[in-house]
Amino acid sequence: MNFKLIVARWIHKLLIHTELMTENMRAPKTIGLAWVARTLMNYSNAQVSIDIVNRMKVKKTDHVLELGVGNGLAIKEIAKISGNNIIGVEISAEFRRNLLKMNLPKNIVILDNDAKDLSNKVSDESIDKLLAINVIYFLKPIEQYILEFKRILKKGGIGYLGCKFESIKNFDIEVAPNKDERAIISTLSNLGFNVSSEFVDLGEDRSRYTFIRFEKK
Ligand SMILES: C[S@@+](CC[C@H](N)C(=O)[O-])C[C@H]1O[C@@H](n2cnc3c(N)ncnc32)[C@H](O)[C@@H]1O
Repeated sequence: MNFKLIVARWIHKLLIHTELMTENMRAPKTIGLAWVARTLMNYSNAQVSIDIVNRMKVKKTDHVLELGVGNGLAIKEIAKISGNNIIGVEISAEFRRNLLKMNLPKNIVILDNDAKDLSNKVSDESIDKLLAINVIYFLKPIEQYILEFKRILKKGGIGYLGCKFESIKNFDIEVAPNKDERAIISTLSNLGFNVSSEFVDLGEDRSRYTFIRFEKK
């Protein structure tokens, strides 16, 4: 484990259940804590991001959108496969600044929208596959976001969520209201998706997650 990671974990441990830290885990913005959040996300989410992209079975012709790009771990993997423009939606200016510095592949387009309304940039029924890793917890009200997913997905289009419910169970409820797998699945079903879920264990605490797949009927 490198020195930066040790420092980030120590600061995170001190502030773990505070609203301020959870706010920064949702969308980094406070100087210092934004760095802590980015460093921890890089360490914790790399393996899971690669695993989820493999499960998505992206085709060269797929139009893919990722919500909550963060450090770009998953979108870089998708860009190795899809020949189309890949849309990344990232509300945090701090993350967007970082993504700009990363020299991402040319077919990645980063939008600064709040994902609850993408109507100025993403047309109806234009997306084959949608991905959101460690994001669903924070979306409020969740129904509004899921209806937007439904608008942009093609019929038969598929959404994928990666969720670490165990790691976020003590997150501040105001910032992270969606911590219950069954409630999320039921909302997706009620709004017109066929849903399945699977617990994935890649062998370490940081790489255990719930994979939720939802297909537009
Ligand atoms: C916990 S981070 C996860 C980042 C990355 N997916 C990962 O797993 O490492 C949550 C991400 O979602 C973004 N985000 C949160 N709410 C959003 C919203 N309403 N619209 C767009 N992006 C959002 C945050 O800025 C942040 O990048």
